Amino acid sequence: MEAKVISGGTRFTSLPRSYVRPESERPRLSEVSAFEHVPIIDLGCNDRSQVVRQVGDACRVYGFFQVINHGVSTEAVERMQEVAAEFFRLPEEEKMKLYSENPTKTMRLSTSFNVKKEKVHNWRDYLRLHCHPLEKYMEEWPANPPTFKEFVSNYCREVRCLGYRLEELISESLGLEKDAVRNILGEQGQHMAVNFYPPCPEPELTYGLPGHADPNALTILLQDLHVAGLQVLKYGKWVAVDPHPNAFVINIGDQLQALSNGRYKSVWHRTMVNADKPRMSIASFLCPSDDALISSPVSLLYNGCGPTYRDFTYAEYYKKFWSRNLDQGHCLELFKNRKRKWHESNCNF
Ligand code: OGA
Ligand code: NI
Repeated sequence: MEAKVISGGTRFTSLPRSYVRPESERPRLSEVSAFEHVPIIDLGCNDRSQVVRQVGDACRVYGFFQVINHGVSTEAVERMQEVAAEFFRLPEEEKMKLYSENPTKTMRLSTSFNVKKEKVHNWRDYLRLHCHPLEKYMEEWPANPPTFKEFVSNYCREVRCLGYRLEELISESLGLEKDAVRNILGEQGQHMAVNFYPPCPEPELTYGLPGHADPNALTILLQDLHVAGLQVLKYGKWVAVDPHPNAFVINIGDQLQALSNGRYKSVWHRTMVNADKPRMSIASFLCPSDDALISSPVSLLYNGCGPTYRDFTYAEYYKKFWSRNLDQGHCLELFKNRKRKWHESNCNF
């Protein structure tokens, strides 16, 4: 299909056919559980062992949680949201200068997910940026709005600190040394997706993003406070993650699932769109360095029977991820060990 952003300013009165999901794949919003809530964890709590426990429980059961008192300043958050909204309000011609469908580009505006590969499109535009090291990437970021680089870089710095703190808590919750996860992930990359979901004429026929798992290590998501849309899959049921004031939504990505030998879950999640209001979300992804070897520490291998996944580099994983459709199934499945072999040669029980 021809490339086209949907945040161009025209309001659609009907959903173009290329966005309509076949009947069996539609959201079925009436089946979304209204009673479950993902945990909210107070990082300002003085009892570290309690926080570690809460993080561990949330990573095991939901793969998702929200954090409050997280240390990222309100000013950084507000400026980030302001400048992102301003970016999407720019005229279409201005935005289209940054448009690309090539996932290897380190700065681009795009739409849906992987336009060239997918059969049905998603009701989303997104600006994707590489953010670390900032000195390397900031230069290529949008020059318009004029405050973009300053506001976004400040936000990125603060979010990275939060990411490191979370990785320490996650390490400890796995019974590892505080810096074990960071050591395995190497010098981590940081990417950002500023997601913009315009009002959609027929939200029940399509998705903002269909069910997917994030390919990176850890995702730190700033949700739209006023417009809900994120849902996570728990025991086969979709649970809405309602926006909480001053919170970030955190989720485990595929790399932490692999590193934890499957204890922690990179959970399937999706975003809904709605008929009335645009929704914006800002996702920051911490990614292992390209050459990081993703491998579980030995202490985590004895829960079942050896390593669930074969070792791989992040570069190998990322290439595989972008060669597929977003909702084609869990990419990590392709890296699973054939268990019996390991069992036969290594297990005594
Ligand atoms: C993502 C994602 C959720 C949202 O960008 O990977 O899952 O609420 N975003 O936009
Ligand atoms: Ni995601």
